[in-house]
Amino acid sequence: MLFTWKEEFSVNIKEIDEQHKQLFKIGSELYDIVSLKDGVDRYDEIMEILYELKNYAEYHFRFEEELMKKYGYERYDMHKKEHERFINKVTTISEEEVDTEQRKVGMNLIVFIANWIENHILRSDMSYKDVLM
Ligand SMILES: [Fe+2]
Ligand SMILES: [Fe+2]
Repeated sequence: MLFTWKEEFSVNIKEIDEQHKQLFKIGSELYDIVSLKDGVDRYDEIMEILYELKNYAEYHFRFEEELMKKYGYERYDMHKKEHERFINKVTTISEEEVDTEQRKVGMNLIVFIANWIENHILRSDMSYKDVLM
């Protein structure tokens, strides 16, 4: 499955692994909803997941950034910018588009989260693995 957390994704920090798992869970909830082809309007559900994704990501990013500051992580600025880009993307999805082009917006968002996992969690987050402990 696209959003299944695996042991090899671990950054060796228990809280962060748990937070990443929660982000995977939100991604898979979205996937389940968007995959339904029953023609039912999912506006409320998609908006709710978007809201959850934004809030949880903000919480998680703050947690990581605090830890990076604490350990004087040298790639802090670059990393924080990637976090900002994520929040930007999630907040700029228009309600109107979710309403009129649900499947397209949902699919795009799934691809975005999947890319995020690959490029950010598995690369940028992995880079702090041996530094923050
Ligand atoms: Fe992360
Ligand atoms: Fe991060």
